[in-house]
Amino acid sequence: MSYLKACAEGDLHEDTPLRVVLDDVPVTLVRTEGDVYAINDVCSHANVSLSEGEVEDCAIECWLHGSRFDLRTGRPSGPPANLPVPVYPVKIDGGAVYVEVNQES
Ligand code: FES
Repeated sequence: MSYLKACAEGDLHEDTPLRVVLDDVPVTLVRTEGDVYAINDVCSHANVSLSEGEVEDCAIECWLHGSRFDLRTGRPSGPPANLPVPVYPVKIDGGAVYVEVNQES
């Protein structure tokens, strides 16, 4: 279990995705509805950055074909994507945001 520092807490603005790369893993961070979520930045349908999509109802929408991924689970709510996107544990400590991208699963 190792959390990597992703950004300062103040870098995250409500419903505005922020793309970071941690250990070569592209991650989108989202602050919404009082929590911070980390989801892999690549849509499971094609190689598209989710950080360019819109956030609504604790989900992020892929801008290309409109699949929406739940930020808590990574599951798509509808086609064309039918596979989940990995999500990662987030910890906030001392004004910084930490993400654990290297999980055993
Ligand atoms: S590339 Fe994301 S839904 Fe098609």
